[in-house]
Amino acid sequence: MSTPTPSSTPASTSGAESRHILFLVTSSREPGHQGNSEWLARQAAAALPSDVQQTWLQLQQLSVPPFVDLRHTVGQYPAPEGDLKTLLDATLAASEIVFVSPVYWFSIPAPMKTYLDHWSGWMRTPGVAFKEQMAAKTLRVVSTSGDRAKAQPMFDSYRLCAQFLGMAWGGELWGKGGAPGAVQADAAAVAQAATFLR
Ligand SMILES: Cc1cc2nc3c(=O)[nH]c(=O)nc-3n(C[C@H](O)[C@H](O)[C@H](O)COP(=O)(O)O)c2cc1C
Repeated sequence: MSTPTPSSTPASTSGAESRHILFLVTSSREPGHQGNSEWLARQAAAALPSDVQQTWLQLQQLSVPPFVDLRHTVGQYPAPEGDLKTLLDATLAASEIVFVSPVYWFSIPAPMKTYLDHWSGWMRTPGVAFKEQMAAKTLRVVSTSGDRAKAQPMFDSYRLCAQFLGMAWGGELWGKGGAPGAVQADAAAVAQAATFLR
C-alpha cells in the first residue's frame, strides 16, 4: 500500500515549547467509518488551542510489516522504509502521542500492538536514539469499549510501555462505545474530553 500523507494541522507558532500531538488511530472499522474512539479523540482535539500542531495517522491504512526479533542474531535494525518510516518519523516529530485505541479482547488491537513491537527495533536502529527521544514525550490513550473495568489491562499495558521508555504518562480518556456514535451518549466522557488534552 502506498504511504498516505498524514493529516496534519500546522501550529500557528513555533518554538522549543510548542506542542505537537500525534494521534495514532487503531480502530479496524472500514475506511470512511469513524469509530467511537476517534470521535471522542476528536472532541478532545477540538478543545486544543490553535498553536498546538496535530498529526492524525490511521494505522489500518498503513502497511506495517510483522516485527522480527533480531536482538540476539543481527543485534540491530536497518533504518525503516515506507509506511514504517512514516510511523517512526511521525512518532519522533511529536512532543506528545495519543493512542486512539478501542479495546479488542481486553487488550491492544493488533495493528497497534505490531506498531509497538517495532519500538523494540527502533531502540536498536543506529543513529535514531529512540529511547532518549521518547523519554521527552508524553503518552495518553483515548479509548472506548463496552465496559470500563475490562479496559484496565489495556490501559495498564500502555502505561507500562510508556514507563519502559521513560515517557510521561498523561492518563486515559474512556467512553462507553459500541456501534458508531454510541459514545456520544456518554455525557461524562464527552465532558472529560473538553479538558483531557489541556
Ligand atoms: C475484535 C473486537 C474485540 C472486542 N473486544 C472487546 C472487549 O474485550 N471488551 C469490550 O468491552 N468491548 C470489546 N469490543 C467492542 C469495542 O471495544 C467497542 O465497540 C468500541 O467502541 C469500538 O471502538 P471504535 O468504535 O473506536 O472502533 C470488541 C470489538 C471488536 C471488533
